Amino acid sequence: MQTNRGPVTANLTVVGDVHRWWRSADVTFLERNRPDLTMFVGDLGDEDVEMVERICELSVPKAVILGNHDAWQSFGRKAATAKLQQSLALLGDDHIAYSVREVPSCGISVIGARPFSWGGPSLRSPELYDEIYGIHTMRQSAAAIVDAARNAQHRDLVILAHNGPMGLGEQTSDMFGKDFGKPGGDWGDRDLALAIQRIEGFGLRVRAVIAGHMHHKLVHPRGAERTRFLRRGDTLFLNSAYVPRVRALQNGEELSYFLRTRWAAGECVAVEEVWVDVHGDEYEAVPPAIVDVSGLAPVVDETQD
Ligand SMILES: [Fe+2]
Ligand SMILES: [Fe+2]
Repeated sequence: MQTNRGPVTANLTVVGDVHRWWRSADVTFLERNRPDLTMFVGDLGDEDVEMVERICELSVPKAVILGNHDAWQSFGRKAATAKLQQSLALLGDDHIAYSVREVPSCGISVIGARPFSWGGPSLRSPELYDEIYGIHTMRQSAAAIVDAARNAQHRDLVILAHNGPMGLGEQTSDMFGKDFGKPGGDWGDRDLALAIQRIEGFGLRVRAVIAGHMHHKLVHPRGAERTRFLRRGDTLFLNSAYVPRVRALQNGEELSYFLRTRWAAGECVAVEEVWVDVHGDEYEAVPPAIVDVSGLAPVVDETQD
């Protein structure tokens, strides 16, 4: 039940890495609650056009940034496969890479960062980015994100990305710290960090950066969990990659994960982790875990470029 809501707020709901964990209950939940915008951080499937179609069928306003898994074979070939081209055509303007989606009810503009990110220092296939976006360096990518922000109608911005920015820590459990392969080190996106710095230099306010990719359960140390929420200055960083996003209770009931953010006058006033049952209702036994956005530990900006 909705309680203690205070003044009217707008609702931006985030769906973390899907990896094919998508249920009809998720559709019911979104279509019944009708968030002002539903945001997908990508990794819907592995170049899975059918999965993209299912997201496109949702009859709610939505914005998507595809992930590295959504372009998996294209990276192998260094060229967009027919499936990736089809996915992009299906999504159309709802794929907001390097562009803006206005959300007047929240007083914010959502900026799309670089899609398909694998994290780390390289673009992995500059050829692929060149083919689709005419971009083949991190700097060009940063400039394209900044250009999108310059076109925004609001001064308060949310950035939607697949992977988060560099500069949020080098430990495996840090929000975008590398926990696989040779673990340790900052696996955040360099272009995004650079773009945020420049955007803030114009006096625009990056109120939140919403990403995924770096899954919540760590490979090293095995089973530990990474930081999912933090604040730097006035910017919230949210990692929505709770994977798999569907979990079973002891009684066999399955719940799926959403991150709900509430906004008033261009500012994020609440972040809630919401579990949805098989009927598309919020699971009563697990009231939303409300993240105290004002109390989040600040981190020092170590991003230097
Ligand atoms: Fe993922
Ligand atoms: Fe990913």
